[in-house]
Amino acid sequence: MRINYFVAGGFVVLIFLVIIFVTTVLPASTFKPTATPAAHKYTPMELAGRNIYRREGCFYCHTQFVRYQDRESGEMVLAGDYMYETPHVLGTERTGPDLSNIGGKYADGWHRAHHDNPRKVKPGSIMPSYSYLTEKEKEQLIAYLQTLGAGRKMTSWVVPPQELQDEYEHVKAFVNVNSSAAANSGKGIFMQNCAQCHGMTGEGNGPVSATMIKKPANFTRPFYTQYSDAMWYYRVKEGVPGTRMPRWGKTLGREQMLYLVAFLKTLPKDTQTVQEEITSLKQLDNPVDLDDNYKYVDQAAERYGASRNEAFK
Ligand code: HEC
Ligand code: HEC
Repeated sequence: MRINYFVAGGFVVLIFLVIIFVTTVLPASTFKPTATPAAHKYTPMELAGRNIYRREGCFYCHTQFVRYQDRESGEMVLAGDYMYETPHVLGTERTGPDLSNIGGKYADGWHRAHHDNPRKVKPGSIMPSYSYLTEKEKEQLIAYLQTLGAGRKMTSWVVPPQELQDEYEHVKAFVNVNSSAAANSGKGIFMQNCAQCHGMTGEGNGPVSATMIKKPANFTRPFYTQYSDAMWYYRVKEGVPGTRMPRWGKTLGREQMLYLVAFLKTLPKDTQTVQEEITSLKQLDNPVDLDDNYKYVDQAAERYGASRNEAFK
């Protein structure tokens, strides 16, 4: 055998070893992330829920990582977030949405209904029903879901992505967002679409907020005076991932969103308004008097000599 073969063979082995060293040995010895606030040490209950998440294969359809390009899934993840995750449940396929920031987005009852039958709360959902889980398992699974991303905070000052800034430069010509006429139109749209969560005065205490752990924004906070028009537009259009704030770009038109910007801009005050958090519907000042609504039904019923209930048949 000629010595040349050994030289070539040795070279191949060497390259192979270098590759192994660079891709596995080197990272394992130099990459030492530390735990971030989002890294969560599970309680036995949450851990049991996590095991159900693995057992039921939720990760076949749901991922748990947010990259730079995943704007719709919330704050980006860091390596240290996964400190206590063994084995990890990152997933690879997004048949359903990413769940990294699902904690606090919905109340426990919502998850319960969703697990029993996803179609109950999301018409047309293709997620399977998990109604066969025992009561205990359901509780554990929900406890686990509520931990996801709960410790994750916005770490940087938020500015709209460049793409949205460019878009705003283009669309701002359509509505003068500094005019009171535009703000008035925005108010109407706000009352119809936003007040149920953000409250009539924008203080974040609308009746639907009772069903959320991550409460709707209180626009009267002085903090919001710092928002640029483009930032308001971006938030309205793309929503706030990981919360119930919808992506209005999907349902409202360009002008409608600009009217809303004009209105939202007028809400922040110089002093902090203390927001009363609504955790139960009983807290609301003026409970709707349904009897009042039924007055006309009653009148009509009377005319025909029937009672209210019969009138509804
Ligand atoms: C066949 C794929 C599939 C499987 C398996 C699956 N899901 Fe889903 N999931 C979806 C789809 C699609 C949606 C979006 C529609 C909806 O909300 O129901 C969704 C939505 C969700 C949401 C709401 C997300 C949001 O931001 O509104 C949660 C929470 C969730 N799934 C949890 C789970 C859990 C927990 C499991 C395992 C027990 C699971 N999913 C298994 C497909 C799946
Ligand atoms: C289902 C409830 C719900 C509805 C309806 C809703 N929002 Fe929200 N909104 C939220 C929640 C929850 C947040 C998240 C607050 C946070 O960031 O912690 C939010 C946040 C926002 C923000 C971002 C605030 C920030 O801190 O950047 C804006 C802007 C906003 N909403 C505007 C609107 C407008 C305009 C409408 C109506 C067209 C609307 N919202 C309707 C629940 C709702």
